[in-house]
Amino acid sequence: MVQNRFHDPVLAAEIVALLVKKPGIYVDGTLGGGGHSLAILRALVDAGFQEGSLLIGIDQDKAALREAGDKLKEYDALSVLVKGNFLDIKGIINKVCSGKGLEPKVAGILLDLGVSSFQIDTAERGFSYLREGPLDMRMDIDASLSAGDIVNSYDEKELARLFYRYGEEPRSRSIARAIVAYRQQHGSVGSTQALASIIRDNAHGGERVIKTLSRVFQALRIEVNAELDVLRGALDAAIDCLEVHGRMAVISYHSLEDRIVKKAFAEKARSDWGPKGVGLREPLAWGTVTPVTRKPLLASPQEIALNSRARSAKLRVIEKICQGGCSECQ
Ligand SMILES: C[S@@+](CC[C@H](N)C(=O)[O-])C[C@H]1O[C@@H](n2cnc3c(N)ncnc32)[C@H](O)[C@@H]1O
Repeated sequence: MVQNRFHDPVLAAEIVALLVKKPGIYVDGTLGGGGHSLAILRALVDAGFQEGSLLIGIDQDKAALREAGDKLKEYDALSVLVKGNFLDIKGIINKVCSGKGLEPKVAGILLDLGVSSFQIDTAERGFSYLREGPLDMRMDIDASLSAGDIVNSYDEKELARLFYRYGEEPRSRSIARAIVAYRQQHGSVGSTQALASIIRDNAHGGERVIKTLSRVFQALRIEVNAELDVLRGALDAAIDCLEVHGRMAVISYHSLEDRIVKKAFAEKARSDWGPKGVGLREPLAWGTVTPVTRKPLLASPQEIALNSRARSAKLRVIEKICQGGCSECQ
């Protein structure tokens, strides 16, 4: 495992083995500390694939770009790092490729969803219920909506809906009610710890408090960064950018993300046989991808022992299908 303090990449060996098959353009849409990108670049060089290869690393967090820039310094000639949202993956790929005179067709794409350890561990970013900080949670600090805006402006119904929808929190209503009551008494909820203590007072005791805290903080983070809408929008665009036999790998960390990935991959894999009972001999349109992993890959117990973040990771990989006539299939 490529270990570092910023963020330990999850399932890195599996990603490299499944993604890096040939020279070409590789896109890491969630660059973070650059751990996966470093593993991909090393694999490209080790396989003698430098010629014709380029890694495009994207992150919306400036701090991640700084860290990854340092880590990937020795691979400067093989990489381009871009501040952006992976929702714009197509535009970013087109821009980088046109600047380098390359065809914008990609051999491999990785999305390692969610936040990095660095973001969670940095108190001022406000992602953690364990650290005193502002209610922020923006991955992109140039974005306007913060967790504080939501906690202090959504009405009780909107808060309850949010905690239920994005946190699957059974006590969503009573927590929303307590937040609104706190606002009436104190004006606003001022910090991560103020919010955490409202949640603690309104959760059942014991282990369930921790679960409730993480669910409510997760829900706020998803809303602040529009994570699920962005993911839904990005998957189709990313698959469109793949060349034939190009692969895309997505690591998700909770069921809401995994459901979206599973559904999008299944829809792209399905051929269109028209309305039931028509009895076509050939589909109206063939599926455009095939699953490489039938079931999601999970981290080994050894990796989980070294990196607890790996516990909830699920890796799904698909490959773009040849619709006939590609040089590799002839
Ligand atoms: C789990 S970390 C990735 C860690 C990385 N794979 C590594 O090895 O260090 C997720 C990263 O993706 C970024 N991110 C999340 N959603 C994003 C989006 N929609 N567009 C761009 N970056 C995003 C976060 O800022 C964070 O740095």
